[in-house]
Amino acid sequence: MEIDFWHDKWEKNLIGFHLPETNPHLIKYYSHLNLTKGDRIFVPLCGKSNDIIWLIKQGLYVTAIELSPLAVKQFFDDNQLQPEIIKQNDFQIWQTEKIRIFVGDFFKLRVDDLKNIDAIYDRASLIALPLQLRQNYRQHLQLILPSMKILLITLEYDQSLMQGPPFAVNDDEIDQLYGNEYQIKTLMKEDVLSKEPHFKKKGVDYMNESVYQLTPRRLSENSSFRHNGVKI
Ligand SMILES: C[S@@+](CC[C@H](N)C(=O)[O-])C[C@H]1O[C@@H](n2cnc3c(N)ncnc32)[C@H](O)[C@@H]1O
Repeated sequence: MEIDFWHDKWEKNLIGFHLPETNPHLIKYYSHLNLTKGDRIFVPLCGKSNDIIWLIKQGLYVTAIELSPLAVKQFFDDNQLQPEIIKQNDFQIWQTEKIRIFVGDFFKLRVDDLKNIDAIYDRASLIALPLQLRQNYRQHLQLILPSMKILLITLEYDQSLMQGPPFAVNDDEIDQLYGNEYQIKTLMKEDVLSKEPHFKKKGVDYMNESVYQLTPRRLSENSSFRHNGVKI
């Protein structure tokens, strides 16, 4: 997917993916990340997601990345936050005490850009990317943040009935992308087509939204990793 595609969407305000409220699946399944106050979470391809605000209300520090400067400006304006803007490598970083948003291309992030991250919250990154880029995304994520707990939210439908984005991402693909390094647990799968009349009109006959908990095999094999909320 060309990056101009996304710049164009933001300029024209065609952002049907944006939720005006916190994603209910984040609220419901957040505890599966087993985080405590002061932990750091990475939010890739964040748009102007309100989930960032909810995450800092849980006592976390959020590091995020978004291609569109317009989206990032809207995020800070909408939340009446005044960020400091600094330059680092290929990026502008818009930051407050608890939020740090890299403005630019995810694929240019380097290991050094992300320090002390404890988990990833990924809603709608994979479905924003066509197949080849999803594979590149996964490889790049593994490079910059290996062995992270991940809460992952995707959509799945019959791709032959509609062109993406959103692109359809099914269980097999999640397994193929993450299965080697992660234990994958499906926390929820629900047909949401009745809430998406726009996609129904395009001829889609079902649309499953899925929430996955991805646990690095390294951690799942060491079940005493966290005891009574304390990292050991
Ligand atoms: C489907 S939206 C999801 C946004 C957000 N996660 C949410 O839940 O509202 C995908 C977002 O990814 C951004 N994006 C696309 N390609 C990107 C890239 N290579 N690097 C950084 N952001 C990108 C787009 O501008 C868009 O805001």
